[in-house]
Amino acid sequence: MKQQSKARAHTNIALIKYWGKRDNKLFLPMNSSLSLTLDAFYSETSVELSDSFEADSFILNDQPQNSQETAKISHFLDLFRQTAGIKTAAKVVSQNFVPTAAGLASSASAFAALGAAMNHATGLNLDLAELSTYVRRGSGSATRSVYGGFVEWQMGTTSADSLAVEIDDASWDIGMITVAVNTNKKTLSSRDGMKLTVETSAFYPAWLESAAKDLVSIKEAIHKQDFQQLGEITESNGMKMHGTMLGATPPFSYWEALTVEVLTKIREIRRQGWQCYFTMDAGPNVKILCRYSDAEAIQKLLTTAFPDNPVIISKVGSGVKLI
Ligand code: PMV
Repeated sequence: MKQQSKARAHTNIALIKYWGKRDNKLFLPMNSSLSLTLDAFYSETSVELSDSFEADSFILNDQPQNSQETAKISHFLDLFRQTAGIKTAAKVVSQNFVPTAAGLASSASAFAALGAAMNHATGLNLDLAELSTYVRRGSGSATRSVYGGFVEWQMGTTSADSLAVEIDDASWDIGMITVAVNTNKKTLSSRDGMKLTVETSAFYPAWLESAAKDLVSIKEAIHKQDFQQLGEITESNGMKMHGTMLGATPPFSYWEALTVEVLTKIREIRRQGWQCYFTMDAGPNVKILCRYSDAEAIQKLLTTAFPDNPVIISKVGSGVKLI
Protein backbone atom coordinates (compact mmCIF):
# COMPACT_ATOMS: atom_id res chain seq x y z
CA MET A 1 0.00 0.00 0.00
CA LYS A 2 1.02 3.63 -0.50
CA GLN A 3 -0.93 6.50 0.97
CA GLN A 4 -0.14 10.07 1.98
CA SER A 5 -2.09 12.60 4.07
CA LYS A 6 -1.34 15.94 5.68
CA ALA A 7 -3.19 17.77 8.45
CA ARG A 8 -3.05 21.01 10.44
CA ALA A 9 -4.07 21.34 14.10
CA HIS A 10 -3.96 24.32 16.43
CA THR A 11 -2.86 24.32 20.02
CA ASN A 12 -5.25 25.06 22.88
CA ILE A 13 -5.02 26.65 26.31
CA ALA A 14 -7.10 25.17 29.12
CA LEU A 15 -9.37 27.54 31.06
CA ILE A 16 -10.37 24.64 33.32
CA LYS A 17 -7.16 22.66 33.65
CA TYR A 18 -6.48 18.98 33.20
CA TRP A 19 -4.09 18.08 36.02
CA GLY A 20 -3.65 14.42 36.86
CA LYS A 21 -4.26 11.02 35.28
CA ARG A 22 -6.28 8.21 36.75
CA ASP A 23 -4.79 5.82 34.16
CA ASN A 24 -1.26 6.58 33.00
CA LYS A 25 -1.32 4.13 30.13
CA LEU A 26 -4.67 5.11 28.61
CA PHE A 27 -4.28 8.80 29.50
CA LEU A 28 -7.57 8.92 31.35
CA PRO A 29 -7.79 12.17 33.33
CA MET A 30 -8.78 12.67 36.95
CA ASN A 31 -11.04 15.58 35.95
CA SER A 32 -12.81 17.01 32.92
CA SER A 33 -11.27 20.16 31.41
CA LEU A 34 -12.22 22.96 29.01
CA SER A 35 -10.05 24.96 26.63
CA LEU A 36 -9.85 27.64 23.98
CA THR A 37 -8.23 26.70 20.66
CA LEU A 38 -5.71 29.31 19.46
CA ASP A 39 -5.14 30.38 15.90
CA ALA A 40 -1.57 31.66 16.27
CA PHE A 41 0.08 28.37 17.23
CA TYR A 42 -0.25 25.22 15.13
CA SER A 43 1.42 22.10 13.71
CA GLU A 44 1.36 20.70 10.20
CA THR A 45 2.14 17.03 9.82
CA SER A 46 2.25 14.65 6.90
CA VAL A 47 2.12 10.87 7.12
CA GLU A 48 3.19 8.66 4.26
CA LEU A 49 2.49 4.94 4.52
CA SER A 50 4.39 2.72 2.14
CA ASP A 51 5.21 -0.97 1.89
CA SER A 52 8.63 0.08 0.65
CA PHE A 53 9.57 1.61 4.04
CA GLU A 54 11.40 -0.76 6.37
CA ALA A 55 10.69 1.19 9.55
CA ASP A 56 8.99 4.37 10.77
CA SER A 57 10.92 7.62 10.41
CA PHE A 58 10.20 11.01 11.95
CA ILE A 59 11.40 14.45 10.88
CA LEU A 60 10.48 17.37 13.16
CA ASN A 61 11.15 20.98 12.13
CA ASP A 62 13.51 19.70 9.37
CA GLN A 63 15.54 17.61 11.86
CA PRO A 64 15.55 13.79 11.60
CA GLN A 65 14.67 12.51 15.09
CA ASN A 66 16.59 9.84 17.01
CA SER A 67 15.33 6.32 17.71
CA GLN A 68 13.92 7.29 21.12
CA GLU A 69 11.75 10.11 19.70
CA THR A 70 10.75 7.97 16.72
CA ALA A 71 9.72 5.11 19.05
CA LYS A 72 7.24 7.43 20.83
CA ILE A 73 5.64 8.26 17.49
CA SER A 74 5.62 4.61 16.38
CA HIS A 75 3.82 3.63 19.55
CA PHE A 76 1.15 6.26 18.83
CA LEU A 77 0.82 5.22 15.16
CA ASP A 78 0.36 1.60 16.31
CA LEU A 79 -3.00 2.54 17.84
CA PHE A 80 -4.27 3.40 14.37
CA ARG A 81 -2.47 0.49 12.65
CA GLN A 82 -4.00 -2.00 15.08
CA THR A 83 -7.54 -0.79 14.37
CA ALA A 84 -6.89 -0.68 10.63
CA GLY A 85 -5.30 -4.15 10.70
CA ILE A 86 -2.10 -3.05 8.93
CA LYS A 87 1.61 -3.10 9.72
CA THR A 88 2.79 -0.62 7.08
CA ALA A 89 5.67 1.65 8.16
CA ALA A 90 5.26 5.42 8.06
CA LYS A 91 7.31 8.48 7.23
CA VAL A 92 6.19 11.38 9.45
CA VAL A 93 7.22 14.93 8.66
CA SER A 94 6.08 17.60 11.08
CA GLN A 95 6.52 21.33 11.42
CA ASN A 96 5.52 23.39 14.45
CA PHE A 97 4.42 26.94 13.70
CA VAL A 98 4.92 28.63 17.02
CA PRO A 99 6.14 32.24 16.81
CA THR A 100 9.81 32.16 17.78
CA ALA A 101 10.38 32.26 21.49
CA ALA A 102 6.72 31.93 22.43
CA GLY A 103 7.69 29.12 24.77
CA LEU A 104 4.44 27.28 24.24
CA ALA A 105 4.34 23.51 24.37
CA SER A 106 3.27 22.09 21.04
CA SER A 107 2.32 18.55 22.05
CA ALA A 108 -1.42 19.30 21.77
CA SER A 109 -1.27 20.53 18.18
CA ALA A 110 1.44 17.99 17.27
CA PHE A 111 -0.50 14.88 18.27
CA ALA A 112 -3.81 16.24 16.95
CA ALA A 113 -2.25 16.91 13.53
CA LEU A 114 -0.42 13.57 13.45
CA GLY A 115 -3.56 11.70 14.48
CA ALA A 116 -5.72 13.43 11.87
CA ALA A 117 -3.18 12.69 9.10
CA MET A 118 -2.84 9.05 10.19
CA ASN A 119 -6.62 8.69 10.48
CA HIS A 120 -6.92 9.63 6.82
CA ALA A 121 -3.83 7.81 5.53
CA THR A 122 -4.97 4.49 7.05
CA GLY A 123 -8.47 4.99 5.61
CA LEU A 124 -9.97 4.62 9.10
CA ASN A 125 -11.75 7.97 8.79
CA LEU A 126 -12.90 8.03 12.41
CA ASP A 127 -15.18 10.95 13.24
CA LEU A 128 -13.68 13.81 15.29
CA ALA A 129 -15.03 12.64 18.65
CA GLU A 130 -13.53 9.17 18.17
CA LEU A 131 -10.33 10.64 16.76
CA SER A 132 -10.01 12.66 19.97
CA THR A 133 -9.87 9.41 21.98
CA TYR A 134 -6.89 8.30 19.88
CA VAL A 135 -4.93 11.57 19.99
CA ARG A 136 -5.54 11.67 23.77
CA ARG A 137 -3.06 8.82 24.03
CA GLY A 138 -0.31 10.93 22.47
CA SER A 139 -0.84 13.83 24.86
CA GLY A 140 -3.86 14.50 27.06
CA SER A 141 -4.25 18.12 26.01
CA ALA A 142 -4.27 17.02 22.31
CA THR A 143 -7.74 15.59 22.91
CA ARG A 144 -9.18 19.13 22.88
CA SER A 145 -7.28 20.28 19.77
CA VAL A 146 -9.48 18.33 17.36
CA TYR A 147 -12.11 21.09 17.64
CA GLY A 148 -11.98 24.88 17.44
CA GLY A 149 -13.36 27.45 19.90
CA PHE A 150 -14.32 26.35 23.42
CA VAL A 151 -13.86 22.60 23.81
CA GLU A 152 -14.57 20.29 26.72
CA TRP A 153 -12.61 17.10 27.33
CA GLN A 154 -15.07 14.92 29.21
CA MET A 155 -13.19 12.63 31.58
CA GLY A 156 -15.53 9.77 30.70
CA THR A 157 -15.77 6.38 32.31
CA THR A 158 -13.70 4.34 29.82
CA SER A 159 -11.18 4.99 27.06
CA ALA A 160 -13.99 5.14 24.50
CA ASP A 161 -15.91 7.99 26.15
CA SER A 162 -13.02 10.11 27.43
CA LEU A 163 -13.36 12.47 24.50
CA ALA A 164 -13.65 16.03 23.20
CA VAL A 165 -16.97 17.85 22.82
CA GLU A 166 -17.46 21.15 20.99
CA ILE A 167 -19.02 23.66 23.39
CA ASP A 168 -19.10 26.97 21.48
CA ASP A 169 -17.25 28.46 18.51
CA ALA A 170 -16.12 31.44 20.66
CA SER A 171 -17.03 33.89 17.90
CA TRP A 172 -18.03 36.59 20.43
CA ASP A 173 -14.93 38.79 20.57
CA ILE A 174 -12.55 36.44 22.38
CA GLY A 175 -8.75 36.61 22.19
CA MET A 176 -5.71 35.46 24.07
CA ILE A 177 -2.32 37.06 24.67
CA THR A 178 0.82 35.11 25.57
CA VAL A 179 3.62 36.72 27.55
CA ALA A 180 6.77 34.63 27.15
CA VAL A 181 8.63 34.75 30.46
CA ASN A 182 11.15 31.97 29.87
CA THR A 183 11.24 29.76 26.80
CA ASN A 184 13.86 27.23 27.92
CA LYS A 185 12.76 23.61 28.22
CA LYS A 186 11.21 23.10 31.65
CA THR A 187 12.95 20.86 34.17
CA LEU A 188 9.81 19.02 35.28
CA SER A 189 7.50 17.75 32.50
CA SER A 190 3.74 18.12 32.93
CA ARG A 191 3.56 14.31 32.97
CA ASP A 192 5.89 14.05 35.98
CA GLY A 193 4.49 17.16 37.66
CA MET A 194 0.92 15.90 37.58
CA LYS A 195 1.96 12.43 38.77
CA LEU A 196 3.76 13.88 41.79
CA THR A 197 0.74 16.07 42.54
CA VAL A 198 -1.79 13.23 42.34
CA GLU A 199 0.35 10.98 44.51
CA THR A 200 1.42 13.44 47.19
CA SER A 201 -0.45 16.76 47.23
CA ALA A 202 -2.49 17.45 50.36
CA PHE A 203 -4.58 19.85 48.24
CA TYR A 204 -5.42 17.41 45.45
CA PRO A 205 -8.84 16.24 46.72
CA ALA A 206 -9.90 19.90 47.06
CA TRP A 207 -8.70 20.56 43.50
CA LEU A 208 -10.89 17.79 42.09
CA GLU A 209 -13.94 19.03 43.95
CA SER A 210 -13.33 22.59 42.88
CA ALA A 211 -12.52 21.81 39.23
CA ALA A 212 -15.82 19.97 38.84
CA LYS A 213 -17.72 23.03 40.12
CA ASP A 214 -15.66 25.42 37.99
CA LEU A 215 -16.50 23.40 34.89
CA VAL A 216 -20.24 23.74 35.50
CA SER A 217 -19.91 27.50 36.13
CA ILE A 218 -17.70 28.17 33.11
CA LYS A 219 -20.12 26.39 30.79
CA GLU A 220 -22.89 28.61 32.17
CA ALA A 221 -20.71 31.67 31.52
CA ILE A 222 -20.03 30.55 27.94
CA HIS A 223 -23.69 29.85 27.37
CA LYS A 224 -24.62 33.36 28.62
CA GLN A 225 -21.59 34.90 26.88
CA ASP A 226 -20.72 36.46 30.23
CA PHE A 227 -17.10 37.48 29.70
CA GLN A 228 -16.43 38.63 33.25
CA GLN A 229 -17.62 35.35 34.73
CA LEU A 230 -15.64 33.43 32.10
CA GLY A 231 -12.48 35.34 32.99
CA GLU A 232 -12.89 35.13 36.75
CA ILE A 233 -13.38 31.35 36.68
CA THR A 234 -10.43 30.93 34.30
CA GLU A 235 -8.12 32.91 36.56
CA SER A 236 -9.22 31.20 39.73
CA ASN A 237 -9.09 27.68 38.28
CA GLY A 238 -5.56 28.13 36.94
CA MET A 239 -4.30 29.43 40.28
CA LYS A 240 -5.89 26.52 42.13
CA MET A 241 -4.06 24.08 39.85
CA HIS A 242 -0.77 25.81 40.68
CA GLY A 243 -1.74 25.71 44.35
CA THR A 244 -1.86 21.90 44.28
CA MET A 245 1.84 21.86 43.41
CA LEU A 246 2.76 23.80 46.54
CA GLY A 247 1.00 21.09 48.53
CA ALA A 248 3.04 18.25 46.95
CA THR A 249 5.99 16.44 48.54
CA PRO A 250 8.46 17.76 47.65
CA PRO A 251 6.68 21.05 46.88
CA PHE A 252 7.35 22.51 43.45
CA SER A 253 6.34 25.43 41.27
CA TYR A 254 6.69 26.44 37.63
CA TRP A 255 6.66 30.13 38.51
CA GLU A 256 9.58 32.51 38.16
CA ALA A 257 10.08 35.95 39.67
CA LEU A 258 9.06 37.60 36.41
CA THR A 259 5.88 35.50 36.31
CA VAL A 260 4.71 37.23 39.49
CA GLU A 261 5.56 40.64 38.03
CA VAL A 262 3.45 39.86 34.95
CA LEU A 263 0.49 38.74 37.08
CA THR A 264 0.76 41.93 39.15
CA LYS A 265 0.82 44.01 35.95
CA ILE A 266 -2.29 42.27 34.61
CA ARG A 267 -4.17 43.06 37.83
CA GLU A 268 -3.10 46.70 37.43
CA ILE A 269 -4.26 46.76 33.78
CA ARG A 270 -7.58 45.33 34.95
CA ARG A 271 -7.93 48.08 37.57
CA GLN A 272 -7.50 50.56 34.71
CA GLY A 273 -10.70 49.14 33.25
CA TRP A 274 -9.52 46.51 30.73
CA GLN A 275 -11.17 43.11 31.00
CA CYS A 276 -8.25 40.68 31.13
CA TYR A 277 -7.64 37.50 33.12
CA PHE A 278 -4.52 35.35 33.43
CA THR A 279 -3.90 31.63 33.34
CA MET A 280 -0.73 29.52 33.28
CA ASP A 281 0.14 25.95 32.34
CA ALA A 282 3.05 23.79 33.48
CA GLY A 283 5.58 26.54 32.88
CA PRO A 284 6.40 30.16 33.76
CA ASN A 285 4.69 31.79 30.75
CA VAL A 286 1.47 33.73 31.20
CA LYS A 287 -1.61 33.63 28.98
CA ILE A 288 -4.24 36.33 29.15
CA LEU A 289 -7.86 35.91 28.17
CA CYS A 290 -9.25 39.18 26.82
CA ARG A 291 -11.61 40.67 24.28
CA TYR A 292 -9.96 40.30 20.87
CA SER A 293 -10.90 43.92 20.16
CA ASP A 294 -8.89 44.99 23.27
CA ALA A 295 -5.88 42.77 22.57
CA GLU A 296 -3.69 45.36 20.82
CA ALA A 297 -4.20 47.96 23.53
CA ILE A 298 -3.39 45.42 26.28
CA GLN A 299 -0.39 44.16 24.28
CA LYS A 300 0.96 47.74 24.19
CA LEU A 301 0.67 48.11 27.97
CA LEU A 302 2.45 44.79 28.50
CA THR A 303 5.20 45.50 25.97
CA THR A 304 5.88 48.84 27.66
CA ALA A 305 6.19 47.08 31.03
CA PHE A 306 8.19 44.08 29.73
CA PRO A 307 10.11 45.28 26.66
CA ASP A 308 12.38 42.21 26.58
CA ASN A 309 9.60 39.63 26.54
CA PRO A 310 7.61 38.58 23.46
CA VAL A 311 3.90 39.42 23.81
CA ILE A 312 1.87 37.55 21.21
CA ILE A 313 -1.82 38.02 20.32
CA SER A 314 -3.96 35.16 19.10
CA LYS A 315 -7.50 34.99 17.88
CA VAL A 316 -9.65 31.88 18.27
CA GLY A 317 -8.46 28.87 16.27
CA SER A 318 -10.31 26.18 14.37
CA GLY A 319 -10.25 22.38 14.67
CA VAL A 320 -8.10 19.86 12.78
CA LYS A 321 -8.15 20.02 9.01
CA LEU A 322 -6.71 17.95 6.23
CA ILE A 323 -4.58 20.12 3.94
O1 PMV B 1 -1.31 16.82 28.07
P1 PMV B 1 -0.18 17.60 28.57
O2 PMV B 1 0.96 16.74 29.00
O3 PMV B 1 0.20 18.68 27.60
O4 PMV B 1 -0.63 18.33 29.96
C1 PMV B 1 -1.35 19.51 29.98
C2 PMV B 1 -1.39 20.11 31.34
C3 PMV B 1 -1.78 21.56 31.40
O5 PMV B 1 -1.34 22.27 30.28
C4 PMV B 1 -1.12 22.18 32.63
C5 PMV B 1 -3.29 21.75 31.57
C6 PMV B 1 -4.14 21.52 30.37
O6 PMV B 1 -5.30 21.17 30.57
O7 PMV B 1 -3.70 21.74 29.22
